[in-house]
Amino acid sequence: EKGGYDWFMLKEIDEQPQAVAETLLGRYGRSGRLQLDEMRLSDDELRDVDKIIIIACGTASYAGLVAKYAIEHWTRIPCEVELASEFRYRDPIIDRSTLVVAISQSGETMDTLMAIRYARQQRARVLSICNTNGSTIPRESDAVIYTHAGPEVAVASTKGFLSQIVACYLLGLYLAQVRGVKYGDEIDAIMAALEKLPAGIQRMLDEGEQVRKLAAELVDTRSVLFLGRHVGYPVALEGALKLKELAYLHAEGFAAGELKHGPIALIEDGIPVFVVVPPKARDQLQEKIVSNIQEIRARGALTIVLAEDGDDDVVPYADHLIRLPKVPTLLQPLVATVPLQIFACELAGLLGHDVDQPRNLAKSVTVE
Ligand code: M6R
Repeated sequence: EKGGYDWFMLKEIDEQPQAVAETLLGRYGRSGRLQLDEMRLSDDELRDVDKIIIIACGTASYAGLVAKYAIEHWTRIPCEVELASEFRYRDPIIDRSTLVVAISQSGETMDTLMAIRYARQQRARVLSICNTNGSTIPRESDAVIYTHAGPEVAVASTKGFLSQIVACYLLGLYLAQVRGVKYGDEIDAIMAALEKLPAGIQRMLDEGEQVRKLAAELVDTRSVLFLGRHVGYPVALEGALKLKELAYLHAEGFAAGELKHGPIALIEDGIPVFVVVPPKARDQLQEKIVSNIQEIRARGALTIVLAEDGDDDVVPYADHLIRLPKVPTLLQPLVATVPLQIFACELAGLLGHDVDQPRNLAKSVTVE
C-alpha cells in the first residue's frame, strides 16, 4: 500500500534511511568483525579470488560502478563492471578464481540470470546481491547477500540502489577482512560512517523542497546533463537514467573529465547541468570539478551544484546549490543520489506522467 503517498516511488524514496539501516543491521558485530550469514563461500575460497566481475543491468549496474572504486581500494583485487547483456557475448576470461557478483533488486532479470548461468558453466563462483528472498538469481548463486530494503514496487529503482551500494560495500569490507589486506584498518571507520548514514539521507529528504521547486522551474526543459567524477560519475549516470525513464527527457551523465573531449559542445544557453562535487579531502578532484563548473557556466549552462557543507569554492559558480552532509568520499553517492531521485520524480509528476509505471517499462525485465 502507498501509505498516504501519491506514488510508490515517493514512499520508497522516503524509506531509504531505513533501507540502508536494515541492510547494515546485524552484519557488524561488537567484536569488530563483519558477519555475512548467507555468504556460503568459505574463507579459503574467498582468499583464492583473483578477479571480481560485477554484472548487472540499469540502475543495479551503476551500483556496481560505485562499488568498483570501494572494492578495489579495500581489497586490491581487480574488479570489472559489465552490463549483464554484454558479458557472455564477449568471451570473458573467467575461471575458478573469478568471483562474479550479480546485482539485482528483483532477482529475476533475465539478462543477469543468463550471465550468471554462463559464469557458472565457466566454473566461476557466483555471489548475488539481491532484494528478493527466494528469487531465481540468488537460488542459482553460490552465495548471496540480501539487501533488506523491503519490497520495491515503483519501476524506477531508488531504495534498491542505495541498499545495493551498501551490500557491495559490506562485501568489499568482508573480503578485506578475510584476506587481511592493509586497508582492513579502514573497516571500523567506514562502518562507523555507514551507521551514521541514515541520518544524512534523512536530511536530504527533509531538504527535498528545494529540489521540488527547481523541478517546477525547469518543467519546460528539453535536455538535462549530469556531471560527476570518481564515485560521482555513476551518480551522474543514475540521475540521467531516472530522468529518462520517468520524465521522458533527454538526459545524459558524463564523467566531468570527459567534457572537453566532446560533451562540452552540447552546452548552450540555459541548459541545466547537475554537477556532483567530490568532498574537498579528495586529492585535486574537487578543484578539477570546480573548474569544470566554471567552464560550463561561462558557456551559458544553468549550474545545479551538489557540494558538501563548507565547500565554498563552488558558491560563485552555482546557480543552484544543493548542500550534502560531509561524509567520506566513497559514501557520497548514498546522499548525492537522493535529490536527483526527488527531482526526476517531481518533474515526471508535474508533466503528468505515471511515475510508478513509466511507459514501455516493466519492473522486472524477464526477457533478454
Ligand atoms: O531487478 P534488477 O535490479 O535486476 O533490475 C535491473 C534494471 O532493470 C533496473 O535497475 C532498471 O534500470 C530500473 N528501472 C532503473 O530505475
